[in-house]
Formats: sequence, C-alpha cells, structure tokens
Amino acid sequence: MKDSGIEPVYKIGKVLFSSEEISGRVGELAARIAAETSKDGLLVVGILNGAAIFLSDLVRRMPPELDVKIDFMSISSYGDTIKSSGAVRILKDIGSDIEGQNVLIVEDIIDTGLTLFYLLNVLHTRRPASLRTCVLLDKRERREVQVKVDYCGFSIPDAFVVGCGLDCAGRWRHLPDIRVVDF
Ligand code: IMP
Ligand code: MG
Repeated sequence: MKDSGIEPVYKIGKVLFSSEEISGRVGELAARIAAETSKDGLLVVGILNGAAIFLSDLVRRMPPELDVKIDFMSISSYGDTIKSSGAVRILKDIGSDIEGQNVLIVEDIIDTGLTLFYLLNVLHTRRPASLRTCVLLDKRERREVQVKVDYCGFSIPDAFVVGCGLDCAGRWRHLPDIRVVDF
C-alpha cells in the first residue's frame, strides 16, 4: 500500500493458516454441519463481504444430498478499516422468508461478538426452525457480548488478519492463506 502520509502503512505478515490447512478444516466443518442438519434442508446465510469466500468453499464441501440454499446479508458494523463503529445496520437483507427454516449464519470472523449478537436477535424474531452460527475464525479474548458459536474453523489470538475473505481497509480479501497484518 502506498504511504499517502495520511493513511497508515499496512504490510502483510506471516501466514497463520495456509490454504491447505483452511481447506482441510472447511471440509471437517461442512461434514459436521451436514451430519447435524435435518432432511428439511439448510439455508446458509453469508454476511457480506467477508464471508463470501468462506461460504463458497464451505457449501461446495457439503454432500449433494443435503438440500442447501444460499443467501447473503450485508450489514455495516465496522468502519472501513479496523475500528468498530458500534452501529449495526442492515444494508441488504435476506431475499426470502426464513420462518420454519434451518438457518446457518456464516461469518468470516467473530471479534467483539456485536455483529453476530445483533444478527441472531434480528433473525430470531423471524421464527426460523433453527438458527446456528459458523465462523471461520474466532478471536475469543476480544469478546464483549456472549454469542453462541456452533461451528468454528480456528481460534486465533488478538491479531489483525487478512485473506480468505478478510480485509484490511478493503484489501487482501483474495489471499488464499490467512495472514497477520503488520502495522
Ligand atoms: P465483531 O462484531 O466485533 O464480532 O466483528 C466482526 C467483524 O469485524 C467481522 O465481520 C470483520 O469484518 C471485522 N473484523 C474483526 N477482526 C478482524 C480481522 O482481524 N481482520 C479483518 N476483519 C476483522
Ligand atoms: Mg465482515
């Protein structure tokens, strides 16, 4: 990233999880989710933009006989870089009624927990048959509110990470590995 004198300079640092490790773990999660989902099927709801890549990897590892549908939501919970704005607002909602459906919310990472806490409350009022959460990464020590995480790829320490859908000021979502950002 170019140093404009205003924007801080970020550099991508060491690999925390390689694409091979991520792929292996995603396969395990998909198998577990499938085994724990009834024949009624599953509506997988990805939170844009971060979860798009993880979700696409995850659903393609689910067995063909599982009745899977996918949808997306977009919310604003963060500014454009790394600080929480505190405000959570729905920018794009799920396209269909979720009443009576098995819903799986897919997020790239849970940090303070505020985003998932808000989403779980909102979606709960729509009376789904079940409501579960799946995150690729969990920064447990940063949690501010208690949230039920049903499926988690990896727990990570308090570092800022990018890749596999996760960004830093919009960058590096496309990296196949998860890497730490050096400030
Ligand atoms: P929470 O509401 O604090 O749990 O934040 C969840 C959101 O924060 C995620 O969807 C990410 O957009 C963002 N986030 C938190 N930590 C990181 C990180 O290390 N890298 C990239 N995005 C992050
Ligand atoms: Mg996000």
